[in-house]
Amino acid sequence: MAKQTHRIGILGSGNIFGRYVTGLARYPELQIVRVGDIDAARAKQAAADHAIPAWGDDAELYADESVDIIVNLTPPVHHARTISTALAAGKHVYVEKPLATTVEEGRTVLAAAAGSGRILGSAPDTFLGSASQTARKALDAGRIGTPIGASAFIGHSKAETWHPDPRFLFQPGGGPVMDMGPYYFAILVNLLGPVRSVAASSRIGAPRRTVTAPQRAVDSIEVTVPTHAGAVLTFASGVIGTTQMSFDVWDTDLPFMEIYGTEGTLSLPSPNNFDGDVRLRRHGESEWTVLEPAVELFGAVGTREQARRGLGVRDLADAIEGGPHRANAPFAFHVLEALCAVDESSQQGRVVELGSTCDRPQPRFSG
Ligand SMILES: NC(=O)c1ccc[n+]([C@@H]2O[C@H](COP(=O)([O-])OP(=O)(O)OC[C@H]3O[C@@H](n4cnc5c(N)ncnc54)[C@H](O)[C@@H]3O)[C@@H](O)[C@H]2O)c1
Repeated sequence: MAKQTHRIGILGSGNIFGRYVTGLARYPELQIVRVGDIDAARAKQAAADHAIPAWGDDAELYADESVDIIVNLTPPVHHARTISTALAAGKHVYVEKPLATTVEEGRTVLAAAAGSGRILGSAPDTFLGSASQTARKALDAGRIGTPIGASAFIGHSKAETWHPDPRFLFQPGGGPVMDMGPYYFAILVNLLGPVRSVAASSRIGAPRRTVTAPQRAVDSIEVTVPTHAGAVLTFASGVIGTTQMSFDVWDTDLPFMEIYGTEGTLSLPSPNNFDGDVRLRRHGESEWTVLEPAVELFGAVGTREQARRGLGVRDLADAIEGGPHRANAPFAFHVLEALCAVDESSQQGRVVELGSTCDRPQPRFSG
């Protein structure tokens, strides 16, 4: 049976835009009908580059009655206001990560979604990929026994070497915690359930960064957000997570993420990708075993398929059609609250207890 068609308008046509266009092409029923940007000339160019039939400024996108879903690819500081405007215009919304940049903003968009009769979904969606789903299946099947601890290490994304305008990554709303942290925290919550408290310490590494990206908008950036953080997450289950999030660690041999249980260890690939080997080593075994993927792969690991986006938009479309909503707003809000607690704990020198909780999203694998 043919799938229901959803008409998509993309808000924001910057760096990640092309990866959404190519990723969404996997789902022919998700049709991109318009692109809107406060910089309308940029939207015009994006529409021409990708054969998108309509383009214009942001107001024209909100007003387009043929658009059902707005995919919001604006920088994080714009998320709260643009989500609320899109919901008020009667659109379902899928927003890039993080959901918003503060807990207060996050509460505002949750309330806006609840009162709108529309559905709000949020990146990251890599926790829906085969690696995270495979780890979840192994964990739920008890293959490492009872989970005790977890570790997660975020090294430098080196954005100033490739992003034409990486300013937002070194200002409040950016930094390694808000920019890369969502991928890691979403996977940890998907695996281990909600976080109860956060104890952290963070600092700015270099106060000024040199931008070397080709076609850069600026040559250097003043850094106004912590770029190196260490945080201990205590989960409601009692699991203790040890994390390091840094734009000052240029190279490292640390693993991306490991989960430690009474009977063994799970090792995960980069949470920034959808696929990759998940390895299991049970106590007494001398070798790691690579687990069978629990869901289909997007493509070979290391290829551009891994960087393309769109699975979270398909997940929102499932929810619109009455199915489960996995990358949902309460889940994204809980992840946001845990991320914001890193800075709060560091600034206030105390353990921060989280006010929110969430369910673990329904797995994508069956059985
Ligand atoms: N660049 C990446 O590799 C990457 C990867 C994953 C996720 N993301 C996320 O995607 C989002 C966008 O990142 P980016 O790197 O593409 O940013 P960008 O700065 O390259 O592009 C943002 C675009 O949004 C437009 N814009 C700004 N405010 C707007 C508004 N109020 N209404 C409409 N348009 C507006 C800008 O004119 C610009 O064209 C962020 O949330 C980021 O965290 C980016």
